[in-house]
Amino acid sequence: MTSVLKTLHAEHRNIARLLNAMEYQIERLATAENPDYDLLQSIANYFCDYPDRCHHPKEDAVFRQLQAKHPTEAATVGDLAKEHRDAYARVRRFRDNIQAIFRDEILPRDTVLSAGRSFIDAEREHMRMEEELFFPLAASVLDEEDWRSIEGSLRQRQDPLFGEFVEEEFRILREFLLRWETDNRRS
Ligand SMILES: [Fe+2]
Ligand SMILES: [Fe+2]
Repeated sequence: MTSVLKTLHAEHRNIARLLNAMEYQIERLATAENPDYDLLQSIANYFCDYPDRCHHPKEDAVFRQLQAKHPTEAATVGDLAKEHRDAYARVRRFRDNIQAIFRDEILPRDTVLSAGRSFIDAEREHMRMEEELFFPLAASVLDEEDWRSIEGSLRQRQDPLFGEFVEEEFRILREFLLRWETDNRRS
């Protein structure tokens, strides 16, 4: 497997774990328990920022190469850019709800719950499509030259704003969130 696809798989695993942490917290709303709103805000901020800065650019680069070299096959993946925009809109709506709660606005629990669930469900479905359709397709039809070109375009893009420093910043935040969730489950 190419290094870009390996990285994307690893990122999906982390995203899936964070979605589980988020789900665990918002489902407390359904049982009239109080979630940890600080944690939910961190997760919402993370999902508003990280995917469009680090994860989606890699997928978009693979998809562009696929469209350029194999347009018919690429069409079966659908509108990847739109799905990424929709994911942002969903998590933005959820983050707006959480911020309203921090401003002491009264919000029905169902509103927050459905905004959170809608993001989680759509994100899981989107990742499933990528894992089962998009990534295997890219792996089977793109050649070594294609992958070199994809990796070259990502390196250019990563310097300096999207470089290792930003990846590192997100890694630290992600580890904090995952550790927090592990501790929380134990207590
Ligand atoms: Fe994606
Ligand atoms: Fe993805």
